[in-house]
Amino acid sequence: MEQNKDLNQIDIPLAKRIYINNSHSTLFKKLLIFSPFLLLLFSYAALRLIKNIEQIPFINLNFQAEKNQDNRILGHLPYAEIPKEKLVLIEPNIEVHIDMRDSLLNMRKEARKDGIYLVFLSGYRSINLQKEIFYSLKSFRNQEAAERARVSAPPGYSEHSTGFAIDIGDATQRETDFETEFQNTDAFNWLIKNAAKFHFKLSFTKDNKYIDYEPWHWRYEGSIEALKVFESSNRKS
Ligand code: DAL
Ligand code: ZN
Repeated sequence: MEQNKDLNQIDIPLAKRIYINNSHSTLFKKLLIFSPFLLLLFSYAALRLIKNIEQIPFINLNFQAEKNQDNRILGHLPYAEIPKEKLVLIEPNIEVHIDMRDSLLNMRKEARKDGIYLVFLSGYRSINLQKEIFYSLKSFRNQEAAERARVSAPPGYSEHSTGFAIDIGDATQRETDFETEFQNTDAFNWLIKNAAKFHFKLSFTKDNKYIDYEPWHWRYEGSIEALKVFESSNRKS
């Protein structure tokens, strides 16, 4: 009798414990049933999140690639500096690519026969010199980079660094040096008619959308190396 009483006392909490456990197991069962749906929902949300995060830089890259397909900076194409051993001095201050020397000197000689006096103003310019020109003039003239780039290439982006570019003036009208008025000189008219015979081409024509018209700036395209250097420019223009 004494023992039964003890058992009864023990039985009550035991029954309660079983009841509580049953409630947990029902919840657990429900979770089990819904878990595939919950898993699907979470996976979907996680995928959306990852996709969004990945798309941000992807969109930016696409945007940059569209804007900069040919690696231009402020409208100028990149040009490597000519190796020193390919440079030759044709005048005290003018160095050019060895491939273009003969053609350039020949052009000046032929022009002279027609009474035209060409003067060479600037040939090869190192990337360092271009750096000085671009940044000091930009600062001196209180110009923003984009403004300056309409008349001068940023360092590493000038045709002059290749040794294949030459700025030409008229020896009888030096006031037109590096000026648009050079287009009215006899020298310019002669060049327009004859320069192609010597494989020279005007680089920055009136229809160039990035760089101002430069009637004095000519480039040589009379060798495979020169054509390779200007391939990109010729393809785009
Ligand atoms: N003036 C031309 C754009 C140059 O600096 O190369
Ligand atoms: Zn030039």
